[in-house]
Amino acid sequence: MDFHYKDIIPYGRSFDEYLDMFNLSEDDLTRDIVGIGDGPASFNSSMHQRGTPIVSVEPIYRYSETELRQRIQETYDDVIEQARQNQDKFVWTRISSVNELADLRMQAMDAFCQDFESGKQQGRYIDASLPNLPFSDGHFDLVLSAHLLFFYSANRNLAFHLNAIRELLRIGSEVRIFPIVDVNSNPSPFLSPVIDEVKKERIACSVERVPYHFQKTGNEMLRLKLS
Ligand SMILES: C[S@@+](CC[C@H](N)C(=O)[O-])C[C@H]1O[C@@H](n2cnc3c(N)ncnc32)[C@H](O)[C@@H]1O
Repeated sequence: MDFHYKDIIPYGRSFDEYLDMFNLSEDDLTRDIVGIGDGPASFNSSMHQRGTPIVSVEPIYRYSETELRQRIQETYDDVIEQARQNQDKFVWTRISSVNELADLRMQAMDAFCQDFESGKQQGRYIDASLPNLPFSDGHFDLVLSAHLLFFYSANRNLAFHLNAIRELLRIGSEVRIFPIVDVNSNPSPFLSPVIDEVKKERIACSVERVPYHFQKTGNEMLRLKLS
């Protein structure tokens, strides 16, 4: 059985997972960071608690905390059930069971929900969508995007990926995207065309191994830098 999502779903990971997915160093954490498609992840909330606030961008941030909690509840059981049916696609070392996975995800999403309304007022959670982001050219130093581009290759086409990645490169000098495989751990058909296209625009590209390894083939990120 494969994972199948009718559309992109809200599902959020923790601060520690973000550190490893993007291979973030302590120096990276002091940079001007934006997370695109952060959904109900707790990275923003944890960065705020550390005293180094970042910005997260998402179409679901148009909703209230109550509506988001409801939406998470509606999709959560299906996501966990699909993970149970697809256990062979994961490496169960860092996270040892589907039950532990369910607990970790809910803890991260709960931390996000608790932080959401105040963070929105402070301008840390912004309602916007790729491929059009409300920031000036080069506004950020480091742009992160996890489990959206490449991951949902069945739900978004190559044109969307190219436009989205050009937009990420417009608003920041360095972009990191994780993972570069899709929801079923298959290589994204869009990775090579995207790399070919951005290389023509004098962008330095590298596929790099990262410490995060949960999807069997999902331990690499794409780093893009203006050269
Ligand atoms: C699976 S979640 C990933 C959340 C988080 N980045 C993580 O890794 O835990 C994907 C998120 O992408 C968001 N999304 C969907 N379309 C988007 C778009 N066009 N621009 C920005 N975010 C989008 C969804 O709302 C969803 O919350």
